[in-house]
Amino acid sequence: MEKHVHVFHHPLIQHKLGIIREESTGPKEFRELVNEIAKLMAYEITLDLPLTDVTVQTPVAKTTVKRLSGKKLGIVPIMRAGLGMVDGILSLIPVAKVGHIGLYRDPETLEAIEYYAKLPEDAGERELIVVDPMLATGGSASAALTAIKKRGAKNIKFLCLISVKEGIDRIHQDHPDVPIYTGAIDPGLNEKSYIDPGFGDAGDRLFGTK
Ligand code: PRP
Ligand code: URA
Repeated sequence: MEKHVHVFHHPLIQHKLGIIREESTGPKEFRELVNEIAKLMAYEITLDLPLTDVTVQTPVAKTTVKRLSGKKLGIVPIMRAGLGMVDGILSLIPVAKVGHIGLYRDPETLEAIEYYAKLPEDAGERELIVVDPMLATGGSASAALTAIKKRGAKNIKFLCLISVKEGIDRIHQDHPDVPIYTGAIDPGLNEKSYIDPGFGDAGDRLFGTK
């Protein structure tokens, strides 16, 4: 299967990513920008949604208009930090259902520990966008994708703000069917497996917990 990684080059996405990388950007601005970036990414990721023709009656005449015709959409944030991307995406796709996967990365072992999972009942019929700001070692995303597939999901895209090659390779290896969409591929991980330069701990910066 062809490996798929798409990097968003939209100038607004790149500009806003630059601001959230700054240490001095506080939680309020960080949250707003993460949602704005997620919204822009959602615009880009939905450019290929299929359309069909339908006939409607305007106040003046009958005409043919376009309607979305493909699978219904779902958003699955990986908690906590993925929550920060949901509202931005929902502002463009308000009818999408939202599932949740709760995972945290054990700071010692880096293993992803699952503590919550709730998906739409018809997850298998939907096109799911799994969202998390960071793809670092890939352990969390890989575990989340496994958990989601176990519950029936088949059509999945993974959307993150920044990533590194290690995490991308992990997803390609464990989930070759899942295309990855990212705002940047950073040079690597530091000794604590944080993305370097990255933007630090995404959950803590979103929720002000540090
Ligand atoms: C962060 C981030 C990812 C994960 C990425 O979550 O939001 O889920 O780390 O790292 P990985 O690719 O090496 O697994 P974290 O574990 O800090 O949990 P939190 O969102 O609850 O803060
Ligand atoms: N999780 C984060 O929140 N940040 C990183 O850089 C890596 C994992």
